[in-house]
Amino acid sequence: MPLLRGLARRFGAERPFEGLTVSACLHVTAETAMLARLLRAGGAAVSLAASNPLSTQDDIAAALAVRHGVSVFARAGEDRRTYYEHIALALRCAAHGGHGPDLVIDDGGDLVNTLHTELAELLPGVRGGCESTTTGVLRLRRMAAEGALAFPVIAANDTAAKRLVDNTRGTGQSVIDGLLRASGILLAGKTVVVTGFGACGVGIAECARGLGAGVIVTEVDPVRALDAVLRGFRVLPLAEAAPLGEVFITATGTAEVIGAAHMAVMRDGAILANAGHFDAEIDVRALAGLAVAVHPDVRPHVDAYELGDGRRLLLLAEGRVVNLVAAEGHPPEVMDLAFGIEALALAWLAGNAGKLSPDVHPVPADLDAEAARLVLAGTGTSIDTLTPAQQSYLASWHLGS
Ligand SMILES: NC(=O)c1ccc[n+]([C@@H]2O[C@H](COP(=O)([O-])OP(=O)(O)OC[C@H]3O[C@@H](n4cnc5c(N)ncnc54)[C@H](O)[C@@H]3O)[C@@H](O)[C@H]2O)c1
Repeated sequence: MPLLRGLARRFGAERPFEGLTVSACLHVTAETAMLARLLRAGGAAVSLAASNPLSTQDDIAAALAVRHGVSVFARAGEDRRTYYEHIALALRCAAHGGHGPDLVIDDGGDLVNTLHTELAELLPGVRGGCESTTTGVLRLRRMAAEGALAFPVIAANDTAAKRLVDNTRGTGQSVIDGLLRASGILLAGKTVVVTGFGACGVGIAECARGLGAGVIVTEVDPVRALDAVLRGFRVLPLAEAAPLGEVFITATGTAEVIGAAHMAVMRDGAILANAGHFDAEIDVRALAGLAVAVHPDVRPHVDAYELGDGRRLLLLAEGRVVNLVAAEGHPPEVMDLAFGIEALALAWLAGNAGKLSPDVHPVPADLDAEAARLVLAGTGTSIDTLTPAQQSYLASWHLGS
């Protein structure tokens, strides 16, 4: 992760987080460990909880705690209650003399939510934070609209470079990786239904097609659906796609996308996997209601739901983010850029939070470009720059002059 390594050298000299505490709620993976070490190099005390009960890599959690001085509250397979207890513990442990963490990093909004609902006494100490994913940004915008958000948050998810590299390319590849590791199927020739053709859905659909699958896209947004059509995908309502699909992958960020009516008409052996942040997209309760028997772990991370008519539907990763549960999440190159943007934004926030209102703010555009430039440089790629004549041409409205 050359960008994070370079930033660690820079932050080691500049110490932008000297004396500050950062509480983070992130998937506890090797890449997250690099971010935590970068924050430590910049002078921060760091506490870390998982952003999903199943995605923690226990060896990484242990190494961070033992070798790198990070207070880690996460264990793979923790139940829902422990998951939220761990988030509260990470926040409480960051509290010094009753004031909460100075800065937070969230992935999905659970840490910020816990802070506002259960530990509101810590809010006055929080300068601001960053949010890493689409679902979290949407939750924060709803909080801000209701006037409920107490500090400024930078929407690290929303930069063009992050969405391109992480949501589209990273999620595309790693979701297919998780699907293949869990199911062991040959994707070529299969019919794959991708629900949601946003940043993640585009990557998943293109990766599946690249491996020879026939891909059907479902959407609710006409522009996104048109994009899918223009890229050569078949677009159908889910009710019509349900009996055709052999693999279903949800990537909408919303709830109950695949429900009982769809499951009732699916083919025997259909595989259901989710890429969205929360385990709400596949209605697992409805699936359990339809089943006469559940055969857990027919393969690692695969539960077979046997229906009354003898069909079996295969649910991967209990309906949770399949790329993080059944595979290792994004490759390091992806998280290098995503976390590089987040670290630059957090360092900027440490010095500028007082100037921002308690709202959701974009990453300053120059930071997004800087991160992309550093990553490009790391790959040995150089690009052109505008000439002075081109700059003045673009700045002028007197075309032809
Ligand atoms: N698994 C990962 O590693 C990973 C990485 C990044 C983001 N995410 C998560 O994936 C989800 C999607 O993120 P995104 O950045 O692609 O969001 P996005 O907003 O770009 O795309 C979501 C798309 O789903 C469509 N949609 C919404 N409801 C639908 C429905 N009922 N049926 C069909 N389509 C529907 C929307 O119109 C939109 O085009 C979010 O929960 C996000 O947090 C996961």
